[in-house]
Amino acid sequence: MKRRNFLINISAVLSGLAVTKTFAKMDHSMISGQMCGQNSANCKMGDNMHEHMHMNMNMTNTKTSQKLLPTSSFPKGLNLPLLANLKNESTKQGIFEATLNLKSVKISLIPELTTEFWTYNGMVPGPKIEVFEGDQVKITVKNDLSQPTTVHWHGLLIPADQDGNPQDEIPAGSSRIYEFTIPKGSAGTYWYHPHGHNTVAEQVYHGLAGTFIVRSKNDPLSDIPEQNWFFSDLKLTDKGQIANNSMADWMNGREGQFVLINGSYQPKIKVNGTTRIRIWNACSGRYLNLSIPGCDVYLVGSDGGLLAQPYLLNKPLLLTPAERAELVIIPKHSGLFYLQSISYDRGKMGDIPPEQDFILAELELNKADSFDLPTTLRQLPILGEPVAHKSIEYTEAMDMKEPRGNMIFLINGKRHDMSRVDLESKIHDVEEWTIINNSHMDHNFHIHGTQFIVLSHELNGVKTPPDYVALKDTINLRPHEKITLKMQQNFTGLRMYHCHIIEHETLGMMGQLLVK
Ligand code: C2O
Ligand code: CU
Ligand code: CU
Repeated sequence: MKRRNFLINISAVLSGLAVTKTFAKMDHSMISGQMCGQNSANCKMGDNMHEHMHMNMNMTNTKTSQKLLPTSSFPKGLNLPLLANLKNESTKQGIFEATLNLKSVKISLIPELTTEFWTYNGMVPGPKIEVFEGDQVKITVKNDLSQPTTVHWHGLLIPADQDGNPQDEIPAGSSRIYEFTIPKGSAGTYWYHPHGHNTVAEQVYHGLAGTFIVRSKNDPLSDIPEQNWFFSDLKLTDKGQIANNSMADWMNGREGQFVLINGSYQPKIKVNGTTRIRIWNACSGRYLNLSIPGCDVYLVGSDGGLLAQPYLLNKPLLLTPAERAELVIIPKHSGLFYLQSISYDRGKMGDIPPEQDFILAELELNKADSFDLPTTLRQLPILGEPVAHKSIEYTEAMDMKEPRGNMIFLINGKRHDMSRVDLESKIHDVEEWTIINNSHMDHNFHIHGTQFIVLSHELNGVKTPPDYVALKDTINLRPHEKITLKMQQNFTGLRMYHCHIIEHETLGMMGQLLVK
């Protein structure tokens, strides 16, 4: 394969033409041969191309390589901080009114170093918003950054024009008000983060993300003491500054050397008897495969609130970027344990070190008295038979013209275009969506404006139902996995769907659904 032909093929894809079978196939062998280091016997790439790519990768790496801060510099073992609440400025029943001010601030996390973060109200993570089902929410957002932004209320069932679409940016120096009502039945664990055009990766890795909890007045688990674990990922240079994305970060999703919980590195977490834990993976690209030793661990909630029944976990909990979970953990022993993320191979490309288990926190457990979880948690909404079907295909391709790396990520053969409508749905229609990951690394799928139900997973010709039924807004796909989802959009307007490895989203792995 000559380089010239290859580039021509790529530009055909970029200009929106359908990906031909030949191209799709060729694309595969090249990626598996060159980038994954797997299946190199399948590599059919010509030598010219091969050399060019390596040259290009090396150049880019040298250009962007930065010296990183050693992990030993960061203080650890501090008590897990609580998430600070965003203050409700209204005293009226059922109204939540507050202000989020985006500004850059210097925070000293490491002795003798300060780090410049971009923050909501000067805090990392951003302040926790807590409301009840049925509340009216009015949040004024003041953008004192030097670039435009939006606030996206990830997972919430709210109108499209209040959901921070990239088309609705708040210019630098301006402000806007977001206003919405929290629907009944939507109690759950959500979050907020920027969703501007082309800037999401940079804004999130500078610190912009916060938690949003919707509570119900009839919560079957309200008696259980609750903790919040908000995971984020921080990549610091040896000067303590937030590092730029390397080419590997753009390809694989950024992973910093520090995984923080509530902004703290390897904190000490005290668990005193049976505890309910809300968990957010707000990392840009890092997959967490959580192992909580010494306890019975029940999954009781997912992205969109409680499950129908508690589900006893018998393996680590995989939480991909943007996913949330609610757990009830019942300590069986007292003592010190480590909360860990167990190695998980998500098919990262390039020259990357092998995946390893790593420590997230020290757990100080206090054995629980015997405890009975309710057997039923809630009635999940019943969606009828689908009346429409949509299919989504994820692919990877190479583009030497992409300055942030040579890999680009496509949905149905296209990169995101703010002015293009990719799919249309009718309001309230129940739809079945098939998502196929036709690539060599894991990607997840997230859609705005709704919570879906996974009907099946299909991998290597084997179709399996999900382990439990849940409302989700983000779901992982292994390479070549196909999943089927059922969903319904209950507002008109434009909705994004994308991979939530934020670098992939920013590089264009995003589409737009118009609900009419
Ligand atoms: Cu957290 Cu478009 O998503
Ligand atoms: Cu979202
Ligand atoms: Cu992805």
